Amino acid sequence: MHAALSDVVFDLFQNSIEAGAMNIGVSFWETADEIHFSVTDDGRGMDFEGLKRAEDPFGSDGTKHPGRRVGLGIPFLRQTAEQTGGRVEIDSVPGKGTRIEAVFPAAHLDLPPEGNLVLLWLQCLTFGGDYQLKIHRMCRESDGRVEEYRIDKAEISEALGGLEDTNTVGLLREFLESMEEPFNK
Ligand SMILES: Nc1ncnc2c1ncn2[C@@H]1O[C@H](COP(=O)(O)OP(=O)(O)OP(=O)(O)O)[C@@H](O)[C@H]1O
Ligand SMILES: [Mg+2]
Repeated sequence: MHAALSDVVFDLFQNSIEAGAMNIGVSFWETADEIHFSVTDDGRGMDFEGLKRAEDPFGSDGTKHPGRRVGLGIPFLRQTAEQTGGRVEIDSVPGKGTRIEAVFPAAHLDLPPEGNLVLLWLQCLTFGGDYQLKIHRMCRESDGRVEEYRIDKAEISEALGGLEDTNTVGLLREFLESMEEPFNK
């Protein structure tokens, strides 16, 4: 199952792609006592029934994963929030888009580890397709010091001359590692 929060974020990102989104925003923030992430898209959105299905671990329609009728992304997020005293908010408007936001207490023992954010961004940036993606990563220390970076898929793709071939993926990875470095101190 899920080992890390970064896997959950990737699930949400994939849901946005599957919903036909052309513009996706992903944020991953840490403060001294909270971990916060959000995924915002302009995909097809969900009506009330769709939201109910998305919340139901047995709500998958069975077409996507033949032989399996469980979609686990959102229910897993809810369950993690319940276990840790965090919260999940979903705003969705049919035809307009969806925003999913989660906040967890950083120190809770049952909180899954953050995971590898370099790999998360790499996966999201190189997924393939015409979608635009904006990433915002932030960390605010208890002394008020802030580390942050923003990545815009269009800009980085232009700078690297595309995101497809293995060469540029290597460069992209090095770039992401350098951005993430100050966060690991
Ligand atoms: N961003 C979104 N926009 C529109 N619909 C969404 C979005 N996120 C989830 N949904 C709807 O909620 C359902 C459940 O999502 P969930 O990620 O839990 O399972 P899944 O995507 O069906 O399966 P899995 O993630 O296991 O491959 C989706 O099938 C989709 O119909
Ligand atoms: Mg999914």
